[in-house]
Amino acid sequence: MIKIQVPATSANLGSGFDALGLALTLYNRVWMEESDIIDITTKDDIVVPTDETNLIYWAAKRLYEECGKRLPGLKIIQENNIPMASGLGSSSACIVAGLLGANRLIGSPLNENDLINLAAEIEGHPDNTTPAISGGLVASAVEGGRVYSVSVPVSEKIRFAAFHPPFELKTEASRSVLPETYDRKDAVYNLSRSALMTASLFSGKTENLRVAVQDKIHQPYRLGLIQDGDTVFRLSYELGSLGTYISGAGPTIIALIESDSVKNFEQYALKNLESKGITGWKLSILDTDPSGASVSIA
Ligand code: HSE
Repeated sequence: MIKIQVPATSANLGSGFDALGLALTLYNRVWMEESDIIDITTKDDIVVPTDETNLIYWAAKRLYEECGKRLPGLKIIQENNIPMASGLGSSSACIVAGLLGANRLIGSPLNENDLINLAAEIEGHPDNTTPAISGGLVASAVEGGRVYSVSVPVSEKIRFAAFHPPFELKTEASRSVLPETYDRKDAVYNLSRSALMTASLFSGKTENLRVAVQDKIHQPYRLGLIQDGDTVFRLSYELGSLGTYISGAGPTIIALIESDSVKNFEQYALKNLESKGITGWKLSILDTDPSGASVSIA
């Protein structure tokens, strides 16, 4: 069997809607081998589709077809650590696992750029799939069906406090509340901040982050879909967040923090929420994953 490990990803980083994303130290793992039948199981109690609608299987089949091959069936074992419909790239992780696994099974005909292009085409935007493959902080743009991207490291000063609410939010629903068009001044507002975000995360210029997470494209419309989200934003700043944003399409909210704020977050964040009657949220402290998805022999 082969084993594929794919990191969670946090897209947008506030201002970089559909353009910026980074890989985090939280991983889904998938074991895969060719089979005559579709045989899909999980190592945990997460319920996943066990037929051809399973996203890992579907992506693997797509890669086989792309390479002119027929996929008879697959044995897949999933370990799902990235919460689903949470804004941490769980569907991208499945797509990437399916593509990378299938590519290895047929002798690696596609290179990393081909895989990045195919993953973004399947997902519809590149900001989760590209960092899931490359690791690091990734800026991506799509032109003529091709992803142009660069992955850079994030300053070691910066860590990620992820607040996970006790409910899901599907990307489709979260995209459906966004306007079709925007004012030029709002576009400039975001363009300037997303450029600032990339350079500040890379260089560790942490005093810029509170401005760089702001945006006028998606967060103002989505915050209302996240019950108690406004309280989590406020609380994170009280505990020393450098900048707080809705991760991807939500509902996870991420506070960028310095290492010396970790204790404060771990000690007080959930307690303070509970004291306000807000229960069921979880907190994880994560770092940037520098190298992205990997494939090995199990
Ligand atoms: N950029 C995407 C969005 C990420 O915000 O809708 C979630 O898939």
